[in-house]
Amino acid sequence: MKNKEDHTMSSEKAFRKAASPGGKDMVHVCWYGEAVGHAYIDEQEGLVWGGYDNDSMQSLFGAHLPCRESDGMPWFLANLWPDNDMFSILGHKDQISYITGGLKFPANITISRNAPWDHPVRNDYLLTSLENHIDDHGVFTGRMMRKLPKSLEENELAHELSSLWKNRHVPRYSGKEIKIPMTLHEEGELQSAITSPFTHFLKFPNAGLREGWGVNEWMCMELCAATGLPTAKHALVPLGDNLPPAYMTERFDIDPLTHRGNKRYLIQDFCTLSGMRPLDQLHPDSNKEGKAAGSLEQVAKIVKQYSSSPQDDVENLFKRTLVSIAVADSDMHRKNISMIFEYDADRNELLSGHLAPAYDITSEIHQEEDRHGMVLPMAGKRKAFSRKSLISFGRNIGIDPERAEQIIDHTFEAIAVRAVDIARNLPPEARHSEMCVYTAQRIATIAVEKARHMGVATPDWEPVSRRREPDARRPSLPGALGV
Ligand SMILES: Nc1ncnc2c1ncn2[C@@H]1O[C@H](COP(=O)(O)OP(=O)(O)OP(=O)(O)O)[C@@H](O)[C@H]1O
Ligand SMILES: [Mg+2]
Repeated sequence: MKNKEDHTMSSEKAFRKAASPGGKDMVHVCWYGEAVGHAYIDEQEGLVWGGYDNDSMQSLFGAHLPCRESDGMPWFLANLWPDNDMFSILGHKDQISYITGGLKFPANITISRNAPWDHPVRNDYLLTSLENHIDDHGVFTGRMMRKLPKSLEENELAHELSSLWKNRHVPRYSGKEIKIPMTLHEEGELQSAITSPFTHFLKFPNAGLREGWGVNEWMCMELCAATGLPTAKHALVPLGDNLPPAYMTERFDIDPLTHRGNKRYLIQDFCTLSGMRPLDQLHPDSNKEGKAAGSLEQVAKIVKQYSSSPQDDVENLFKRTLVSIAVADSDMHRKNISMIFEYDADRNELLSGHLAPAYDITSEIHQEEDRHGMVLPMAGKRKAFSRKSLISFGRNIGIDPERAEQIIDHTFEAIAVRAVDIARNLPPEARHSEMCVYTAQRIATIAVEKARHMGVATPDWEPVSRRREPDARRPSLPGALGV
């Protein structure tokens, strides 16, 4: 027999179904707690947009941001998909189970059958800045409050961490890598963000070849910041003597708690801004739409369309591209670059749109240097870039050759100098793992090699060549991961 609560739930559901067209189930979308609109759950079609619940949201999302042609759904909603194995472990394989299984999505978006009534108590905001909790090397100095993973072996780690998302209050976000939402408290305590504000992402390295991935992403972000490009704040997070360090980044789409005013942020990647589904490179339609479709010239066109300072942002896109080339990052796809929009909720006004700070940059240290290529082509090429081809790309997106030359010199030089500096002075917390040391040395080797190829002066550096298989697969330190 059903208890009273079950009975209330089912009659509420029945009421909702009866009130919607064709008796379909419905979800409500809120942004910072304000109703945006609603969508119907259609077993065949998936989520279908039902319409806006309020005029100001209609004019913001409907008039200023791309919406799906078939039903008018804003593309950032249409593109909320489970793209991480952790959701398939939980059985959230399609969009409906992913969305109904969760509550909080990026940029303080809440989606649920009962929103806004079950909106989390508060929106996410920063309690402190990472800058207050790092040392001179950029290593996190706060206190890790959550228990460390039992294993860094990819499948075991995914299984262990996936249980977090059984709780629907734990935020959902995109990306293939295994990462968890964290709260960094004012005094530096770091805990999982379950009901506390989600302020930082923590990415664990994986066992084997990717044992140095925390160092890898941290170092690439340091190199990116050294070029002067706006870069997500980041830190290397020590996990004790038995595990290689992890990587942490601070969310740039939320304000500090102390911020006064009623500002909201919306992060939009270049699948969403181009009205494309976030298809994977392996999908049959991936040449037409998805993370790897089109070219960087097309991305630049979108930047010009949405940016409040188009020329600066086009230059930033150019620099961001050079960073990927300089460190051999093969993953600069349409979801690894975004724009961030600011909205004044008191005046119902979109204030600005800018290229978001750089994030998710890693170096393909295990690949041959000449095999490295970009996901999105520029000036018709994906690899083997010469100074001349980079200048043509600059010209294609509206940067004059003289300016492009300056940016190329500055970017490649700054990266090579900083890479050698890091590889020579690796933080002690990363030195106990031989794979981390090797990772930093390989990144310095790549950065110096790429800078020389561009004809840029570089510091002295003894190259560290790529280990051949199975050497590169050799576990780093005996027992390094045997916790
Ligand atoms: N510092 C940040 N602030 C706000 N949002 C961020 C930040 N870093 C990443 N994101 C968002 O989270 C998403 C996933 O992060 P990220 O790209 O680092 O993960 P990933 O799993 O490595 O991705 P991929 O599938 O490209 O390998 C990004 O696409 C971006 O939308
Ligand atoms: Mg990514």
